[in-house]
Amino acid sequence: MDFETLKAECLSCRRCGLCETRKNVVFGQGVPNAEVLFVGEGPGANEDEQGLPFVGRSGKLLDSYLEAVDLDRNRNIFIANIVKCRPPENRDPLPEESAACMPWLRQQFQLLRPKIVVCLGRIAAQQMIDKSFSVTKDHGKFFDKQGTLFMATLHPAALLRNPGNKPLAFEDFAALRDKIHEVCDHTY
Ligand code: URA
Repeated sequence: MDFETLKAECLSCRRCGLCETRKNVVFGQGVPNAEVLFVGEGPGANEDEQGLPFVGRSGKLLDSYLEAVDLDRNRNIFIANIVKCRPPENRDPLPEESAACMPWLRQQFQLLRPKIVVCLGRIAAQQMIDKSFSVTKDHGKFFDKQGTLFMATLHPAALLRNPGNKPLAFEDFAALRDKIHEVCDHTY
């Protein structure tokens, strides 16, 4: 299975109720040899319209943090989400929606075999790292899970609501840059 085949299958997914209200499946965006995988929560209105992850206001903010540490979704990373279809009214994904969608992310993970996974916000961190994960307490720390390093940082939408936390996120991205230098081969 290659990325394009997986994407084609994912785009016709009907594994949960979100398929009834979505405009587009947001499979993810990035390079297929990425060593760093970013995982968000799920598409919002802009993402649903365009079929691409993080393209609204929070996406602009995310891109600025990425650029500050020489990362770029068109060059050296991949960005995906826990759920690939927009939850109505931007509510949190229901447990059954996340469960139905996770096999797609698992396949993306297996194809990429990333060195580092960066969880954007609580929903991704609790799904990927630990179900009681506290982003406030443990953002910016790296956790080795079966040879892959996992880290969580504040969700860019949360930073738009609480701009006072932006320096915390910036520190996380600086720590990420250092870790990439340590463990990645071709990201930089
Ligand atoms: N928020 C997310 O968690 N993911 C997106 O793709 C866009 C906004």
